[in-house]
Amino acid sequence: MAKSHSQFVCQQCGAIYTSWNGRCSKCGAWNSLIEQVPEDARDEKSAVSRGQASGKLLKYASINDLEVSNEKERLKTGFPDLDTVLGGGILLGSVSLLAGQPGIGKSTLLMQICAKIAETRTVLYISGEESAGQVKLRAVRLGAKSDNLKFASSTSANDIAKTIEGGEFDLVIVDSIQTLTLAEIASAPGGISQVTNCGNLIIRAAKTSGTAVIIVGHVTKEGTLAGPKVLEHLVDVVLNFEGDRYGGFKTVRAVKNRFGSTTEAAIFEMNQQGLSEVKNPSAALLAERQNTDGSIILATLEGTRPILVEIQALVTPSNFGYPKRTASGCDLNRLNLLIAVLERRTKLKLSDQDIFVNVVGGLKLQDSAADLAICLAIASAVAGRKLSEEYVVFGEVGLGGEIRSAFRPDQRISEAKKLGFTRAIAPATIKDKFVIPVRDLRDTLIKYVNEK
Ligand code: TYD
Ligand code: MG
Repeated sequence: MAKSHSQFVCQQCGAIYTSWNGRCSKCGAWNSLIEQVPEDARDEKSAVSRGQASGKLLKYASINDLEVSNEKERLKTGFPDLDTVLGGGILLGSVSLLAGQPGIGKSTLLMQICAKIAETRTVLYISGEESAGQVKLRAVRLGAKSDNLKFASSTSANDIAKTIEGGEFDLVIVDSIQTLTLAEIASAPGGISQVTNCGNLIIRAAKTSGTAVIIVGHVTKEGTLAGPKVLEHLVDVVLNFEGDRYGGFKTVRAVKNRFGSTTEAAIFEMNQQGLSEVKNPSAALLAERQNTDGSIILATLEGTRPILVEIQALVTPSNFGYPKRTASGCDLNRLNLLIAVLERRTKLKLSDQDIFVNVVGGLKLQDSAADLAICLAIASAVAGRKLSEEYVVFGEVGLGGEIRSAFRPDQRISEAKKLGFTRAIAPATIKDKFVIPVRDLRDTLIKYVNEK
């Protein structure tokens, strides 16, 4: 199909270009150009004048008379933790986006959810990526065999929206948005205008028919693919599926949820029968631990659930002038900041050392209370001394080297007790006998890592 000449419009000032630029030369905004089909722009102008004439007065009602959407109508996914992430299940009429790297297990998870929901409801799985044979193979392996589970292979957003609008299904899966095309738009699938418009059409169909829809979106390793990011604003729920593609734990988090909180997370593991929820992640994460220098047990939170996880640091002299810092499972900027704090506040010499920090088990830490554990791991690796086996660590580190309080200390402590730890090196603000109170990073290092 010949590609129509699209134009690039600055979303800040409206300047039009024939090719994409990183920066709008008219208003100076960065990364603000978005591809549009010229007909769209012409349509828009005349649409405004037509729209002005065709408006009707809104019907409004008192807030007291509004009907609450039926909370009982939530579809249970068969994964209790995932239901919690969703705010109690999938709400009928809602549109969710499941975003994640290719190969992480999105199709697997959705097929398992379909199998469960199809026990009582009608479900349609639409794939634009895989053939019927491939999907059938996976369905067999995952034990999905209900007659209520239908399959269709399509990449036409028009057809999919029409089918959803028919209202025949309670749940429809669209795998994936990047493969869909709207016949009226000439650009290639996966581009911004296709993704936004296909998304909009499907959302409209879901709302009018009260069908729950889950849309799959691929994200690159850096999370940069523009398509799904644009969709985030349009859908009701955005679920991020992240973690290690090859083994390890994978987490599903809600980064946006119009029907629930965004503090919960579900932890999964991939095995022969598909994904299963990990019930006791701490025990699994600590099973293979060797207490060496540079290894610290952090009491962290994944959502509202406490988890003990091992943080490992390796410090070696740099071979080249510029020292290397690598973070896996935690934020590299945060690691650089902590290294700066360590150098400035504790007089640890790190400027000629390569530093590698690893969070064991594929978890991605989003907890500021990991700071103290990362600092202790680095200091322990530098000193070549281990911390006592019976200690867990948590606490945020400030730029002044002060140790600050952490969320939900009680839950962290009770998880540590449950797994047989005897003390926690933690902020002094916590009043608990279990805690060895610490206030300052330098004192902590001298006392617990460098002691002879
Ligand atoms: P998939 O769900 O297709 O990933 P996505 O849709 O996110 O691209 O599958 C992810 C990987 O999981 C795939 O490489 C094979 C593996 N897998 C298992 O290990 N066990 C299983 O039961 C299934 C169905 C897949
Ligand atoms: Mg897939």
